Amino acid sequence: PYVVTELCIKCKYMDCVEVCPVDCFYEGENMLVIHPDECIDCGVCEPECPAEAIVPDTDPKAEPWLELNREYSANWPNLNRKKPAPADADEYKGMPDKYAKFFS
Ligand code: SF4
Ligand code: F3S
Repeated sequence: PYVVTELCIKCKYMDCVEVCPVDCFYEGENMLVIHPDECIDCGVCEPECPAEAIVPDTDPKAEPWLELNREYSANWPNLNRKKPAPADADEYKGMPDKYAKFFS
């Protein structure tokens, strides 16, 4: 499957949601995740993300996000329509180590 990484945190552009043919994105307060068992590996979301937050699970950057995508997608609501990104999304675009900065 494809995996949403920490580059999504506080960006949440949601262009990914618009293109996913199987609606396998789930929404948390600060980021989206992909349900790894629902993703059909089509890859169309990857180039749509302005923050380059989406990678295939074979990418070294997917670690440890594959397991977090699995865990969070089981608890967060499904999202099948794009909503507006946060007003300050661009301020966080490309910021490194967001998980450590905001959640530890
Ligand atoms: Fe959806 Fe395809 Fe992206 Fe998987 S790779 S999340 S199926 S758009
Ligand atoms: Fe996040 Fe990129 Fe989608 S920032 S919400 S993975 S378009």
